[in-house]
Amino acid sequence: MECVLGIETSCDETAAAVVTGDLSIRSSVVESSIDQHRDVGGVVPELAGRAHVATISPVVARALGEAGLDPRRPAIAGIAVTSGPGLVGSLLVGLSFAKALALAWDVPYVGVNHLEGHLFAPRLEAPGLAWPLMTLLVSGGHSMIVYQRGPGEHEVLGETVDDAAGEAYDKVARWLGLGYPGGPVIDHLAREGVAANLPLPRGMLGEGLDLSFSGLKTAVVRATEGRDDLALADVAAAFQATLAEQLLRKLRAALAAHEVRSVALAGGVAANSALREGVASLATELGVTAHLPALAFCTDNAAMIAAAGIHRLAHGGASPLSLSARPNWDLREVA
Ligand code: KG4
Ligand code: ZN
Repeated sequence: MECVLGIETSCDETAAAVVTGDLSIRSSVVESSIDQHRDVGGVVPELAGRAHVATISPVVARALGEAGLDPRRPAIAGIAVTSGPGLVGSLLVGLSFAKALALAWDVPYVGVNHLEGHLFAPRLEAPGLAWPLMTLLVSGGHSMIVYQRGPGEHEVLGETVDDAAGEAYDKVARWLGLGYPGGPVIDHLAREGVAANLPLPRGMLGEGLDLSFSGLKTAVVRATEGRDDLALADVAAAFQATLAEQLLRKLRAALAAHEVRSVALAGGVAANSALREGVASLATELGVTAHLPALAFCTDNAAMIAAAGIHRLAHGGASPLSLSARPNWDLREVA
């Protein structure tokens, strides 16, 4: 089975993967520069870009080697690379590298939308999943509910009108002094807390399928300011429960309006335990199949980019060498 090399450098992960045409993963390597950004509490674009330059060659060579391919002249059918959305200086490293490899190896390459990559992640473990599919795509930069009739077709039903879900986790964690990134630490802490100890307002009641998290972040700040008596675990549990409740309520509304056979979680926040449990039980209740990607395929990786690229290349989507990075590439513009 012919393989595609995937390359991902849109944020702080430098990732490369080799995936076969039937979506089996031959290798997936992820290096993160996150340690360089922890003190600031967010990704520093300049540092992320420099880290990609230093890391991209060894990461790609490792991915090819682990897939049993010759890193100098691998037998691959093509290259898929994230060309947007993301940090422009980071995107350009991966994109330029992919173009150079495509030229040197004389193979086609395709620029992939990072969000479409996240949407393909559940298929890495369930290549034959039943369509139509509803995906709750929640990451550090985006939060949306996407309906898909088939692979590569997407209708954005609703999205955040302010912060992304992961961004809310990161901001609340910074406020509570829990470090960066906030998702994993709040998720962990929340398991020992009691959400009812800190009542928070529910957001976006009756506002269609759009989402909003900045009000919740402000509510946490207001409710905890000067309150040394509150247990951090209770704050984490209350924030997590309120955020998950909004996401699950909106997902339920989307599923009530669109008949689907599968429901999936995607994006870094898909690693969240409350959300995974909630989506699994919602799917059981509605009699549809839930697809919750393994944690390594929730957060940024190149296997999902390769998977999206395989679809794009098979449908005549090879990119010209003149392709530019698109830092604000909207999923709705992917055709
Ligand atoms: O998809 P991703 O790796 O990068 C983007 O494309 O944004 O998502 C990163 C985001 C961060 O905001 C991080 O705090 C969040 O995913 N995250 C989580 C969890 N693990 C990562 N949020 C909630 N619960 C988690 N367990
Ligand atoms: Zn992402």
